[in-house]
Amino acid sequence: MCGIIGYTGVQAAVPVILQGLERLEYRGYDSAGMGIFENGEIAMYKTMGSPSNLKEKAPQGSAAKVGIGHTRWATHGAPDEKNAHPHMSADGKFAVVHNGIIENYVELKRELTEKGYIFRSETDTEVVAFLLEEAYKGDVKSALSEIMPKLNGSYALGILCSDYPDTIFCAKKSSPLFVGIDADGGYLASDVAAFYKNSGKIYKLGDNEIGIIKKDGLKVFDIDGCRIRKTEVKIREAQRYEGKGKYEHFMLKEIYEQPTAFSATLENILVDGKIKLGCLKMNREKIKHLNHIEFIACGSAYHAGVVGAYAAQKLLNIPAFSFIASEYINRSSSADENTLVVIISQSGETADTLAAMREAKKRNAKIVSIVNNELSTIAQESDCVILTKAGREVAVATTKAFSAQLAVIYALCIRLSYSAGKIDREKYKNYCTELSKISEKIGEFLKENSYAKSIAEILKDTDYCSFIGRGFDYCTAMEGALKLKEISYAHCEAYAAGELKHGTISLIENGTPVVAVVCDSSVATKTLGNIKECKARGAKIICITNDENYKGDADDVIVYVPKTEDIFSVSLSVLPLQLIAYYTAKLKGCSIDKPKNLAKSVTVE
Ligand code: F6R
Repeated sequence: MCGIIGYTGVQAAVPVILQGLERLEYRGYDSAGMGIFENGEIAMYKTMGSPSNLKEKAPQGSAAKVGIGHTRWATHGAPDEKNAHPHMSADGKFAVVHNGIIENYVELKRELTEKGYIFRSETDTEVVAFLLEEAYKGDVKSALSEIMPKLNGSYALGILCSDYPDTIFCAKKSSPLFVGIDADGGYLASDVAAFYKNSGKIYKLGDNEIGIIKKDGLKVFDIDGCRIRKTEVKIREAQRYEGKGKYEHFMLKEIYEQPTAFSATLENILVDGKIKLGCLKMNREKIKHLNHIEFIACGSAYHAGVVGAYAAQKLLNIPAFSFIASEYINRSSSADENTLVVIISQSGETADTLAAMREAKKRNAKIVSIVNNELSTIAQESDCVILTKAGREVAVATTKAFSAQLAVIYALCIRLSYSAGKIDREKYKNYCTELSKISEKIGEFLKENSYAKSIAEILKDTDYCSFIGRGFDYCTAMEGALKLKEISYAHCEAYAAGELKHGTISLIENGTPVVAVVCDSSVATKTLGNIKECKARGAKIICITNDENYKGDADDVIVYVPKTEDIFSVSLSVLPLQLIAYYTAKLKGCSIDKPKNLAKSVTVE
């Protein structure tokens, strides 16, 4: 979603802010802006589109040493310059950048309008600037303490006040905010990737805390104005910023980082042929008494959750369900203290997932989270956190984080199954051995990609395409279709192969591409029948399989992936689909790393 950067220090602020915004660009790129102190006054620069457009507008040679910047993902109001942040108070004293949503902004706006304030934007953020102006009596911290209880919803705020031209003020609730301090000054960012340098001390602001950043340090206060001592947080090297290296796009780089993401994730989990998940703290009895397991997530992470539900049901033989996080509250789940709830999120900040997790917590379920960011809110609120070690993922469309999530899900299901006595020692050992080989198999398969370029030629001009599969292959189909839609904007859908004949087979015409995944051996023969049904109606079949025996006379194109246990098959069958999506988007000239309308970390419900 939106991104915040701020700097106060000895360097020129404009290049620091521009670089921070570029690093945050993956979070939102509808419009961008910055506010800096020039001759004691706050000067604002705004642009439509990407932060790189701001380079032309911002005064590159400015001597300003203090400023804030923002990259916007529009929620309230169109992505134009008037709605771009920062937003100013009417008296020009405050400039505010904001992530999150002020849910009661309509009411606040009405009250402020009645008092004579004239709004210049359609955003919810402008109310914050006006409320600050109204509450300010010379002390910004007190003004923040006064207005924060009035703001419902979520916010991370970066604020300049013209009475304090060496200072950045900040505050937050339910939206992440970090402060970095090094020899060159103080930095503010919604994401540590934005920090100018990969050095210095980093602090995470807590909910309802107020920060005052100067070039030589940070002071943090609670909402009552009492000083809070913050401890430095350690950021894993892997979470810091890295460039694209030799790759044309972050997405391609991240596809090729999947072997490492998978193996690094399992490094401390699969040790000496055994699965160690100490943080679970569930003994055999507790596991045996589980009434069911729920996997909750959004988007691709939800697809990982679907794999989890299929694998858990298969290995534990108890009910296992996958939930789209935003629907969790709408469905009355029967989670209780004997339910294991697995929350999956790359960012660990997805608002829908967080809300669902809090709902499951209310029901006293045991919460295990699978996240890629140990500092995230989801990690902090879980009973047990299992980290994926995918490293920083920049491309909006996830690939390596998805792979790393699967690694944890497999390990979790196998461990629970073995502990509950559902699989014997030999089966357990076999699964562990095969799991330890997956990363190598991923690496082996990724060496060749010419097939993906040829398939992209077929898909680039298509109006409609269908992805089908059964069992674990259905999970792959869902993820493959999402990747293609997200980055190439091709209209396609995933269908459980057996369900096609109940409706959407009507869309198949001469030449309609159907991507069929046939890797789950338990259902392969049935899928082969469904492929024939499509072929009989003129479909062009692109078959992804791991077995020569599944090669039928119906396939127009066939891609072989390495063979593995059915439960791990998604980790391999998804790879060609990621690459096909990538090359299709490339042929269509799409913005691969930053698809239109999407954001990386979706921090609004
Ligand atoms: C798809 C994609 C999204 C995310 C979803 C959840 O390529 O990246 O669908 O998977 O927004 O995000 P996290 O995992 O951060 O909770």
